Amino acid sequence: MCGIVGYIGKASAKPILLNALSTLEYRGYDSCGIAIRNDSIDIYKDIVRVEVMQKESPTLNGTTGIGHTRWATHGEPSSTNSHPHTDCSGKFAVVHNGIISNFQKLRQQLIAEGHVFTSETDSEVIPHMIEKYYDGVLEEAVQAALDEIEGSYAIAVLTADEDILIAARKDSPLIIGVGDGEMFIASDVPAVLDYTDRVIYLEDRDLAVITKDSFKITSDGTEIKRAEHRATWSKEDVQKAGYEHFMLKEINEQPRVIQNTIGDYLVSGEPSSDAEFKFDEELRDLSIVACGTSYHAGLVGKYIIEELHGIPVRVDLASEFNHGRRMIPTSMAIAITQSGETADVLSTLKRFREESVRTVAITNVPGSSASRVANDTIYTKAGPEVSVAATKSFIAQLISLYQFTLSCPGLHRGIRESLLAELRQMPNKIEQVLDGACRIVNVAKFLAKHDNVFFIGRGINHPIALEGALKLKEISYIHAEGYAAGELKHGSIALLQENTPIIAIVANDNTRDAMISSINQAKARSAPVIALADEDDEDIGSLVDYVIRLPRTGNMFTPVTNAVALQLLAYHTAKHRGCPIDFPRNLAKSVTVE
Ligand code: F6R
Repeated sequence: MCGIVGYIGKASAKPILLNALSTLEYRGYDSCGIAIRNDSIDIYKDIVRVEVMQKESPTLNGTTGIGHTRWATHGEPSSTNSHPHTDCSGKFAVVHNGIISNFQKLRQQLIAEGHVFTSETDSEVIPHMIEKYYDGVLEEAVQAALDEIEGSYAIAVLTADEDILIAARKDSPLIIGVGDGEMFIASDVPAVLDYTDRVIYLEDRDLAVITKDSFKITSDGTEIKRAEHRATWSKEDVQKAGYEHFMLKEINEQPRVIQNTIGDYLVSGEPSSDAEFKFDEELRDLSIVACGTSYHAGLVGKYIIEELHGIPVRVDLASEFNHGRRMIPTSMAIAITQSGETADVLSTLKRFREESVRTVAITNVPGSSASRVANDTIYTKAGPEVSVAATKSFIAQLISLYQFTLSCPGLHRGIRESLLAELRQMPNKIEQVLDGACRIVNVAKFLAKHDNVFFIGRGINHPIALEGALKLKEISYIHAEGYAAGELKHGSIALLQENTPIIAIVANDNTRDAMISSINQAKARSAPVIALADEDDEDIGSLVDYVIRLPRTGNMFTPVTNAVALQLLAYHTAKHRGCPIDFPRNLAKSVTVE
């Protein structure tokens, strides 16, 4: 939620800040703004996308500045609510990501002391508090302000008085990029990759004073060293590479993503020697927590782990877990989070840790908060995912869950070997799905004309129906519901008519007959049916209106091929409807607020 950047060096700050912001737009794009230090501080902000600001903003000279791209939490998207915010004197400018939970109280106090506010945001209290405490040493004033703030923050502070930047974080991500005679601040590593691959991950309560040649980090006032890391992602990873949208590029990357995620494992059947997590414990029970698409991966995980290990697996929405719910004892908890920064997931992980439960994060982002909170981390190695809709990270999560399940002790060797053989086929199976994309385009043309759609699945593909519906609604704005097929007749069938398409996932497993029955019930209510079915399923064609044919895949692995087909269907439907596919309205990729 919200992307922040900072630059201090010898080059003109404005193009660098805007370029860095453009790679952070997945974090929010309601408005954007920059502040550049000259003799005073010049600010330009508006409810436009970064691309427009790059073309239309006035010349702003200066080699030190900060920038922000916003996902609105307090106050509508507007020019005045955009960041950076300043104090009354205009001497301090601040960009903020997070939520200040006690801002009303602080704001009332500051107003009583004579401060004048111009926005509805919680963030604006920060520059005013810095102004209140400033006595010539910016670092001390910022620390004093942060000591009174409750909630979460990642901030960058600019002052007119001296050529320094301050960065600080608590419960929101922030990195320092280390260059040669220049330094960067960013919410996420991709923002600095055009300039440097040397990064420092700030920890909670860190405050950094940054000049163009140096930085000093303190934690609660005590100076502290943080290790420098080499970024593992390259700048090519965050470019479109000729694709019209990042989403399409990311869908097409999926065969390689599988190889990268478990390449060694596919060859040897053993976790790679540098694996961060060793699968050495027999499972007794398991809790999985996640949000959104990652939650759907967790639901698939439940099916495969319960089926193969015969142990109970509980899957919770992290956003439902934290608010006073009693902890049910469990021996291990897995948190699945692409970004590794989802606030609800992080709170849940912390609760498990407090209860001394062994925690494992499945995450895509090296150095992310989840990887630092959990005892162990499984990295999905999907590479940076720019499009707001999760695609390749979902497939990588599924693959990591298969690997986890197959690697845990207690599985019969023969079963493991035969599933491993099927897992090895998956990059190739996905290639085949991608090769059939042009047939999906036709179905998408039909779907694009409708306003309400049901996705139905059974068993291991029920979560894929949920995921297919989520993908369609978030990028095409068509209302879609994912359903366990057998549940339709318990109420929602009332909505079926000739303009309510059903997308039925027809797996060639023990759910097939029941799914055919659900299809017939839908057809009897005149609903058009689109089936996802095996390439050799001869009977299905006569029962439905459209068939999306998929390569025959082992029963356990059909969620992967079905999910990829539904990603393509959502993509092409949104394209027919002219939607802003990579950056759908109201969304942000990294949800760092509860
Ligand atoms: C949907 C989507 C979201 C995320 C959710 C959790 O396409 O991307 O539903 O899956 O916000 O995010 P992570 O996985 O980063 O915790």
